[in-house]
Amino acid sequence: MGKVIAIAALAANNVIGDSIKNDLPWPRIPSDMKFFERTTTGDFLENGKKNFVIMGRKTYESIPEAFRPLRNRSTVVVSSNNFYPVKEGLYSATSVEDALVLCNRINPSADIYIAGGGSIYAYAMKHNLVDELLITHLMYECEGDVVFPHIDTSIWFDAEKIEPTTDKKTGIVYIIVTYRKC
Ligand SMILES: NC(=O)c1ccc[n+]([C@@H]2O[C@H](COP(=O)([O-])OP(=O)(O)OC[C@H]3O[C@@H](n4cnc5c(N)ncnc54)[C@H](OP(=O)(O)O)[C@@H]3O)[C@@H](O)[C@H]2O)c1
Repeated sequence: MGKVIAIAALAANNVIGDSIKNDLPWPRIPSDMKFFERTTTGDFLENGKKNFVIMGRKTYESIPEAFRPLRNRSTVVVSSNNFYPVKEGLYSATSVEDALVLCNRINPSADIYIAGGGSIYAYAMKHNLVDELLITHLMYECEGDVVFPHIDTSIWFDAEKIEPTTDKKTGIVYIIVTYRKC
């Protein structure tokens, strides 16, 4: 199976979302959105290897219709609905484990990105389904009721750090950290 990577952006207080608006609790950060697109797409444009992005039904439905499913990647939506409507580039599964099995069956060498939301990150980390965390830590506090699970430093260490970046549009400063298992 390909590597399973949880990719997320966290406010300084670990908030990742607003469940009422079903949206991110901060203004769009174009440079981090580009980072997400570039990372999850990988080298598809060079060698056609299509990575997977697994996300909860609410996160999937928070993406504007024109942009979903995500281009140049295969998306797997996790929903308890056995009959979640799928289309080209979009698959569904009724559990995170089934989503991973499905990805492995379709292409065992593609990378698998777990892209939220809160319930999917929590489940995948609690059940030890994640190999790596790729976290954008925003130097920005905000309100919101969806949080990222605690990153337990007895399990995870910060293996790589990208120098602080300032997003030109929002002025928000962030660092990107790759956590691997100790
Ligand atoms: N900052 C970030 O990096 C980031 C990334 C992604 C999302 N977000 C934010 O996170 C929030 C959404 O997170 P959320 O926790 O409310 O929702 P979510 O995880 O995106 O989706 C929840 C839905 O996923 C399905 N689901 C979850 N666990 C399941 C399981 N074990 N088995 C079967 N189905 C399961 C259920 O769908 P059904 O109801 O259809 O059964 C559930 O209602 C939004 O605010 C979004 O903007 C932030």
